Amino acid sequence: TGIVVLTMKASVIEMFLVLLVTGIHSNKEMIQKSTRAKFTVPQINCDVKAGKIINPEFIVKCPAGCQDPKYHVYGTGVYASYSSVCGAAVHSGVLNNSGGNVLVQKVAGQSSYKGSYSNGVQSLSLPRWRESFLVSESKPKKGVTYPSVLTYSSGKPPAAKADETTNTYQKSSVPGTTAQPVTLMPMLSNLEAEAAHTTSQKSSLLTPSATGSPRPQPVGHRSRELGETHLRMEPALLAGFVPKEELSTQALEPASQGDPNCKVDLSFLIDGSSSIGKRRFGIQKQFLADIAQALDVGPSGPLMGVVQYGDNPATQFNLKTHMNSPDLKAAIEKITLKGGLSNAGRAISFVTKNFFSKANGNRRGVPNVAVVVLDGWPTDKVEETSKLARESGINIFFITIEAAVESEKHYVVEPSFANKAVCRTNGYYSFNVQSWFALRKTVQPLVKRICDTDRLACSKTCLNSADIGFVIDGSSSVGTSNFRTVLQFVANLSKEFEISDTDTRIGAVQYTYEQRLEFGFDKYHTKADILNAIKNVGYWSGGTSTGAAIHYTLEQLFKKSKPNKRKLMILITDGRSYDDVRIAAMAAHQKGVITYAIGIAWAAQDELDIIATHPARDHSFFVDEFDNLYKSVPKIIQNICTEFNSQPRN
Ligand SMILES: *[C@@H]1O[C@H](CO)[C@@H](O)[C@H](O)[C@H]1NC(C)=O
Ligand SMILES: *[C@@H]1O[C@H](CO)[C@@H](O)[C@H](O)[C@H]1NC(C)=O
Repeated sequence: TGIVVLTMKASVIEMFLVLLVTGIHSNKEMIQKSTRAKFTVPQINCDVKAGKIINPEFIVKCPAGCQDPKYHVYGTGVYASYSSVCGAAVHSGVLNNSGGNVLVQKVAGQSSYKGSYSNGVQSLSLPRWRESFLVSESKPKKGVTYPSVLTYSSGKPPAAKADETTNTYQKSSVPGTTAQPVTLMPMLSNLEAEAAHTTSQKSSLLTPSATGSPRPQPVGHRSRELGETHLRMEPALLAGFVPKEELSTQALEPASQGDPNCKVDLSFLIDGSSSIGKRRFGIQKQFLADIAQALDVGPSGPLMGVVQYGDNPATQFNLKTHMNSPDLKAAIEKITLKGGLSNAGRAISFVTKNFFSKANGNRRGVPNVAVVVLDGWPTDKVEETSKLARESGINIFFITIEAAVESEKHYVVEPSFANKAVCRTNGYYSFNVQSWFALRKTVQPLVKRICDTDRLACSKTCLNSADIGFVIDGSSSVGTSNFRTVLQFVANLSKEFEISDTDTRIGAVQYTYEQRLEFGFDKYHTKADILNAIKNVGYWSGGTSTGAAIHYTLEQLFKKSKPNKRKLMILITDGRSYDDVRIAAMAAHQKGVITYAIGIAWAAQDELDIIATHPARDHSFFVDEFDNLYKSVPKIIQNICTEFNSQPRN
């Protein structure tokens, strides 16, 4: 019986324990429930950018003091996620400088953000960003759980956060596009058999008879006997291998309009030199086909053309020849090797002059990208031609495959040519691929960089990317002689910029009581013509209605500004306005027109500060007499460039 009692005791204890545990458990659940119902609002600092926080919707507590120009805000109403969350909340009027709670919702990236001055915060304009957010009062919505703890992106600056873009990009692209080791495997068994065949193919290619003309192996160009061992697996990649089922589904699908998140005009410069050999050329074509597939080519997305270069370059097809990925892939398949040297420099020059034309399908306001694929090294120089290409607005990428090894370095005509060709030497615009076999791994990173148009700002500078409108006071107080000085000042400022239809454009308005358009942005196309036109502006003489002049300039000049241009207004006056400038100035600021106010002699400082974009100390200038006007030219140019360069273009 003692045993029975013992067992009973044990089970009682057991039951007790079970009850105890359940009790604790349900207690825990209660705690959880109550926190869910009444979550604690996470706090952030003024400088935290929305892009840093991964949560799509959240409530945060902002501290006091976020109404400070050092917390940059981009946009109005809809803010680029590069903005300070709390700064945007103050700008939008959801919070004041005392801080408080704010509800943040992430929304899609925009193609442009307009800056404005509101609630004591000057927000800036931004051409494009990958993600935006909205701010509103922190009234929690029913059925939405707000996080008590925010998830931050890995502590990297937002610039490095492009991974997110890739993910979405990968999701949207056709499945089974690139890097398919599967397609390789079945072919491996053929390798040994192929090896003998391909070797003889290569050597026959190198003999003059194969190209039809006696073209000796160029001095300094790689002898292809080297590195042949890397190429064992090449036959698997030959001839643009495409799985059958992929072909059949493509035929049924309607042609894609293209990926709208990747609107670029793209030129591939492929190496067609004799030394590359047919098999490497085949890999290069497969690489192009993979890119074409991964890009989702179409009229509303990326367009792609191909130029093959040897001794001389030739266009295989231009931007509008094949406007969808399947057609493009089929056309790539048909490209045959040209032969000759590797004159990449000449090819870049050709692309700059001939490729990106309207007749070839080049679209206005769409970034131009040239990707140079290069076997080893070029047989001519690329630095100068690449610079010209970049200056004409082409973003250059260099992919060097099997770069010169130590014993080959003396053949290279231009050491570190790739760094000299691209606009930044941090490796963003150049790829070094160890072997042709590894080229496929470049497809995804290259496509990601090509499509990240925010970062394709390489060729844009403070001097070549604006529409500048001069607003010139022609009132009687100026006088004929001083008016000439003002025109010289306008000419001296204009001279500093790179002027053409695709670079900076200049327009001018003269005002008294009335206003007249001297010339619009599209009237003149060269610097010489602009300077001449400025010189020929006739002095009007009359009153001073500066407010009306600003309104007129917005309507008559800036309405015709291109969306991808920075808008700069430079207003020059020698006196106080007869009308009120506040509303006109605010309209300019709200439209994202960056306004500089230059006052001479009798001009009123307070009025200049109202006209000028915030902060006024950077945008408002005063000189006591006309003869000192020339002194402010360098400072104005410097401020324009400093402001341009301080905007994120990661
Ligand atoms: C800021 O807003 C809070 C709440 O709306 C209000 O109580 C406070 O007076 C405001 N502070 C200022 C300086 O306007
Ligand atoms: C414009 O430039 C010329 C030549 O550099 C100079 O002599 C003149 O003083 C400048 N004038 C103004 C108003 O900037």
